[in-house]
Amino acid sequence: MSSLNENARTLVSNRRGILAADESIGTMSSRLEKVGVEATEENRRVYRELIVTTPRLSESISGIILADETFHQQVSNGRTFPEFLADLGILTGIKVDTGAKPLAGAPNETITEGLDGLRERVTDYVRLGATFAKWRAVIKIGDSLPSDRAVRANVHALARYAGLCQEGGLVPIVEPEVLMDGAHSLAQCQKVTTAVLESLFDELNLMQVQLDGIVLKPNMVVAGTDSPERPSVTDVARATVDALRATVPASVPGIAFLSGGQSPEAATKHLGAMQGLSPLPWELTYSFGRALVGPALETWRGDNDNWAAAQKALSERAVANAAAR
Ligand code: 13P
Repeated sequence: MSSLNENARTLVSNRRGILAADESIGTMSSRLEKVGVEATEENRRVYRELIVTTPRLSESISGIILADETFHQQVSNGRTFPEFLADLGILTGIKVDTGAKPLAGAPNETITEGLDGLRERVTDYVRLGATFAKWRAVIKIGDSLPSDRAVRANVHALARYAGLCQEGGLVPIVEPEVLMDGAHSLAQCQKVTTAVLESLFDELNLMQVQLDGIVLKPNMVVAGTDSPERPSVTDVARATVDALRATVPASVPGIAFLSGGQSPEAATKHLGAMQGLSPLPWELTYSFGRALVGPALETWRGDNDNWAAAQKALSERAVANAAAR
């Protein structure tokens, strides 16, 4: 078994999942401000310390994705975040894309950037303790969207990112996120998600990416936020698994979903319902951001008297998701 395959399997097995704590400085700052916390480098560090020091986190969390800022910061005991996670038996991931930028020739669509200098950055991150990486491509559903241009540009970038990561020894989390924003139906989301995944695996194969050494991080197939449709938990589970069965080779060890703006409870229920739809050739797990840490951030609000209660809120979500598996 290659070490890429071994690490990919560690990330998705034993009923554990991945915690996405890699919000960019801008996104993290606005989330802190929303709960009344001043957006400073130190407060972003303290909040991430709250997450990683949550008791018994490693029982349900196999890996945590960090942003570059956190990756180089220290926990209060003097260990860097990657060192601290290694002590806990949690793998360190690093977000290596530099964000979604407007795509020329495709109004209202984006291309995720970050390939320049990536080979050298991967080497540095590996030296400092990273085991896996993440790159998020963003696909929007709308009037005649997504365009072929946007899909092809984004899956191309994802495949080149994945190849560079594997060359340097990092397991790439490959994240093509079809956004929930909009009034589209469940069926439209399924159609777009299927098309994007099909195009993604064509490109991963073209770029010779080792499929047993990646983790796929897709959206669940849901109706748009502004859609009048209210699909049942079973409908979402079926539509999601159908899209994955049609496109994802069995050699991929695991699929770890993003939560994408679903409520924490809905994301957990959907994940649980999918487990019953056997046979599934891959592990199905979570790589949630908001659906894991949202309640903790709301509880903490920058007040250290709420520290233990906030950690309890995170722990409850982590345990619920592990149980859903
Ligand atoms: P959400 O679960 O909040 O969508 O975040 C996951 C993630 O990593 C987005 O890139």
